[in-house]
Amino acid sequence: MIIGAAGKAGRAVHRHLAGRGHEIITVGRSSGDIRCDITDPAQLDQLWAQAGRVDAVVCAAGEVPYATIDELSSEDYQAAFTQKVLAQINLVRTGLGHVAERGSFTLISGIPSRDPVVSAAAAAMANGAIEAFARTAAVEIAPRRINVVSPSVFTESLDDYADFFPGFVPVPLAEVARGFQKAVEGAATGQVITLP
Ligand SMILES: NC(=O)c1ccc[n+]([C@@H]2O[C@H](COP(=O)([O-])OP(=O)(O)OC[C@H]3O[C@@H](n4cnc5c(N)ncnc54)[C@H](OP(=O)(O)O)[C@@H]3O)[C@@H](O)[C@H]2O)c1
Repeated sequence: MIIGAAGKAGRAVHRHLAGRGHEIITVGRSSGDIRCDITDPAQLDQLWAQAGRVDAVVCAAGEVPYATIDELSSEDYQAAFTQKVLAQINLVRTGLGHVAERGSFTLISGIPSRDPVVSAAAAAMANGAIEAFARTAAVEIAPRRINVVSPSVFTESLDDYADFFPGFVPVPLAEVARGFQKAVEGAATGQVITLP
């Protein structure tokens, strides 16, 4: 099951995993096999009722505001936390009983948690939180696995974000998709898969 399957990252992951022979359920707020806003706990319950039992959950969704520290309000940090951190945590929390015993969760973070990026304080906070959650959750949910894919700016997003990432090495979406493949098909748990 791919959350955010119609987005930039989600489309690439969908294409790649479908090409590997996986049977995929797509999820999004406004498109997909199942419509669900993962920030809404009631919609998450409906998602699991519709999806049934799955082998792997992949999340490629989670909006965060980009602005300088001077500009970011308390509500901005709250929004970043709600949309990227709590939504993904609730996806795992509510999904535990619906994912196969040796199945996996793969969440998404991003480079600002490990490399300072001007205007990315809210993103850094959210990404760091989701990575910290996954490290601890991995211990408790075994033999189910949980990992986080943490990409640099996508090559395909440079038109929008290049100014925020001066001199950063971008990552093509095809490599982001392979990172998700590694998490879904591999053996790792509690890992942050950094790209590049
Ligand atoms: N773009 C980059 O360069 C970059 C780099 C590193 C990390 N990231 C991270 O990668 C993730 C995806 O980025 P992207 O650029 O692929 O975003 P995107 O193109 O905006 O796609 C996000 C997708 O997620 C869905 N979505 C958003 N919020 C949702 C929610 N609450 N519930 C269910 N579905 C939701 C959206 O569809 P609907 O609107 O229909 O729901 C959309 O299909 C984000 O967390 C971002 O921070 C991005």
